[in-house]
Amino acid sequence: MDGPPPPASPAGLSAYVAVSQLLGLTLLATTGAWLGRYRGGVAWDSPLQFNVHPLCMVLGMVFLQALLVYRVFRHEAKRSTKALHALLHGLALVIALVGIIAVFESHRTKSIPNMYSLHSWCGMAAFVLYLLQWLLGCGFFLLPSTSFSLRSRYKPQHIFFGIALFALSIAACLLGITEMLLFNIRDSYSRFAPEGVLANTLGVLLVAFGLVVGYVLTRDDWKRPPLAEELALSMDFKTLTEHESPGGSSQ
Ligand code: HEM
Repeated sequence: MDGPPPPASPAGLSAYVAVSQLLGLTLLATTGAWLGRYRGGVAWDSPLQFNVHPLCMVLGMVFLQALLVYRVFRHEAKRSTKALHALLHGLALVIALVGIIAVFESHRTKSIPNMYSLHSWCGMAAFVLYLLQWLLGCGFFLLPSTSFSLRSRYKPQHIFFGIALFALSIAACLLGITEMLLFNIRDSYSRFAPEGVLANTLGVLLVAFGLVVGYVLTRDDWKRPPLAEELALSMDFKTLTEHESPGGSSQ
């Protein structure tokens, strides 16, 4: 064997990650079951085009947005973990964009007005801010020319808005589910129609997923520990900037 084995993950983290992924897959299966069993399935060039929207939004804006890359790959090199993090969020954005195009196209062919509902406002805000968050993240953390101090100042904002936008995405999905039920089964919803019960279950699963992922993300002792060489680098940087200009800016 070369070198010591990687340190074990903290107790509980693996269990929470496993539960989150199980919930995430159940979310996708429940969305598929709802659209397949009660809404005729999913297709692009057809009246079923609208159904691409909920499927892509749950997959892109919820499931893929919440892959816990920094918690799962705790002991890999930061550079590759960062690249994977950016890649997965990029994929989530592309899938979400397909979902947004689907609903606008479906509205256009059926001559339905755009952007009138609270769901569409919150949903569009979540998508646009998520795109902005991704662009800023790439600029600050992937561009080699961005200074260490600029990165450190931006990082807490990136973390806060990452969690906040994930919560906003789940809220937008809940609004979308309710709206879709009111459009489609307005008369039978209050009599516990099976479609309503299934879609409500999807909503509860979304909330549970958000809570589990939110817990994992906010546990301080589950954060990715810096590797020895990263620690050494940041110590070098600190010494350098402290000696450079006492009390001055480090940029
Ligand atoms: C974060 C996830 C979501 C985002 C970002 C989002 C975004 C949007 C946007 C921007 C529109 C307006 C389209 C237009 O005006 O032409 C829309 C419409 C719609 N969405 Fe979503 N959506 C999301 C999730 C969902 C989900 C999960 C459902 C249902 C299960 C859903 C159901 C609907 C419905 C019924 C409409 C048409 C009525 C309206 O414009 O409000 N959405 N969505």
